Amino acid sequence: MAKKKEMEGEVFYPSEQVVEQARVKDWEAMAEKADKDLEGFWSAEASELEWYKKWDKVLDDSKKPFFKWFTGAKVNIVHNAIDRHLKTYRKNKLALIWESEDGKEHLTYSYFAMNREVSRMANIIKAMGVRKGDRVTIYMGRIPEIVFAMLACAKIGAVHSVVFGGFSAEALHGRIEDSQSKLVITQDGNYVNGKIVDLKRTVDEALKRCPSVENVLVVRRTGQDTPMDPLRDHWYHELAKLPVANGKCPTEEMDAEDPLYILYTSGSTGKPKAILHVHGGYMVGTYTTLKYVFDLKDEDRFWCAADPGWVTGHSYIVYGPLLNGATSFMFEGGPAYPYPNRWWQCVERYGINILYTAPTAIRGLMRFGEAWPNKHDLSSLRLLGSVGEPINPEAWKWYHRVIGKEQCPIMDTWWQTETGMFMITPTPTVPLKPGSGTRPFFGQQAEIVDEAGNPVKDGDEGYLVLKRPWPSMLRTIYGDPDRYVNQYWSKFPGKYLAGDSARRDADGYYWIIGRVDDVINVSGHRLGTAEIESALVSHPAVAEAAAIGLPHEVKGTGIHAFCLLRAGFAPSESLAEELRQHVAKVISPIARPEDVKFVDKLPKTRSGKIMRRVLKARAQGLPEGDVSTLEE
Ligand code: WTA
Repeated sequence: MAKKKEMEGEVFYPSEQVVEQARVKDWEAMAEKADKDLEGFWSAEASELEWYKKWDKVLDDSKKPFFKWFTGAKVNIVHNAIDRHLKTYRKNKLALIWESEDGKEHLTYSYFAMNREVSRMANIIKAMGVRKGDRVTIYMGRIPEIVFAMLACAKIGAVHSVVFGGFSAEALHGRIEDSQSKLVITQDGNYVNGKIVDLKRTVDEALKRCPSVENVLVVRRTGQDTPMDPLRDHWYHELAKLPVANGKCPTEEMDAEDPLYILYTSGSTGKPKAILHVHGGYMVGTYTTLKYVFDLKDEDRFWCAADPGWVTGHSYIVYGPLLNGATSFMFEGGPAYPYPNRWWQCVERYGINILYTAPTAIRGLMRFGEAWPNKHDLSSLRLLGSVGEPINPEAWKWYHRVIGKEQCPIMDTWWQTETGMFMITPTPTVPLKPGSGTRPFFGQQAEIVDEAGNPVKDGDEGYLVLKRPWPSMLRTIYGDPDRYVNQYWSKFPGKYLAGDSARRDADGYYWIIGRVDDVINVSGHRLGTAEIESALVSHPAVAEAAAIGLPHEVKGTGIHAFCLLRAGFAPSESLAEELRQHVAKVISPIARPEDVKFVDKLPKTRSGKIMRRVLKARAQGLPEGDVSTLEE
């Protein structure tokens, strides 16, 4: 593409071929149009989908920050993800391709089959008494049934709450209790790097104190011995044989603003927040962003290598691809088991055209060297994607050169559980700078502001805020609307506070620096310092604890803990190890600290708040900054 103007820094321009194939050829024109007429842009996108009844209003901002989209409309996301395709040639198109961790099982589901499987699961959970508005917790691994379970809930108007299968019984318990779920859907065990993780037993443990749960639906995956409570627990494969499971299941007509799902994510304080998304706007946002950013073509095979337990999986394994009538690939295992060519084998075997993953996975695979990907034919790849944390230029370039053979633009998509869809992202023809997500998506405006809310100069670091509403924005924190207002809309009234620091360069490109709140991003997983600290102090030896994040070669950020021991306990290597295990057990192995240090005191403000910033500076041998409020 002809360079329009000289851009600063290292820039990768799209090839002629990329431009030729791209859906959006003139990014500037499209952005300008959406900017001038936000509602017009989104209503045109929404009109590409089917609605039982169209909206009265595209955007209702009369009660901001409680924005509403497509008010008055009737819709169900499943109608657009599945039902509408059944009337077209897509009925016979593959919706999902799946491969087991060991590579011995391969399953494919056409849109027709997807409808059958989702209807079956929906009939079963309906027969269990699940109704519109009820919450259902899903605790599973990457198997097709997790997709069926999510869509089955949505189909009948129930609200799913997926909890990542790596979370502990205690974390699961907290999420079930907060959501007051009636039903839990799980599987006997999950294969993780050749070992079985007992999901059902973890559910049993979590349910000891969850009176709201009436039934547990268990998918058989590993076949190991699994205790079943005869009154509460049901094997899915047994119920699936019953006549009640096998009839048609009507898709429930929902209001556009009816809840679709909640998903827990870590915040700066207290327990995880239940982010609420709705049927109408979330549908339009995920459909539109995936279409433009990954430029989905009918013949594409798209692979989002995230886990359905996180928002990336919700939006871009499950909903976005199906809304676009695409063929999506899901792999049960991880990138390096049994060998570090596992992913490349999948790309070759299934002819994947678009691969979307996280910097931590790329850095992890980089360490094994180029020989592993070079053994495979990766020429089917057309586009690559990155999400979850800033991608360091070194990893970006490796991904670009070794995986994409310098032919595939990398879509570095910045977004959050709260935003539901990509917010700062290129589309394929946008010139790229390694490490920058480029500019806000169509219809969005971002700004970098200082403590007082004033825009900073280009090049300076500040708070990242979003200035315009978007259809797939979170509607509230489930059960805690005040926290929604305080967390996102109070620091800079009228602007959405992302919780990230960033800077903008002279070309208008955004560079995310990292979280500014007390959230640690470990391998793209959000963990709150408060959660880690409360896990540490739940151990009898610990009186007080502080957790910070420090740079880590593969994980991006690693957790480092500082503990003050109770009287009668002495620091030791074995106690440090015990505390690391304790955090893994209480939250999840992803939260296990890199190390635990014992201290006599923690740096605190006069009002008693731990100054993690000071701990961080000390640990890295950097200046401590403003310590006027420090009282040690
Ligand atoms: C970070 C994941 C830089 C950021 C979709 C954000 C990123 C948090 C990027 C949200 C990216 C996500 N570049 N940082 N491309 N994508 N982040 O809710 O700090 O799990 O606030 O959503 O991840 O994490 P969450």
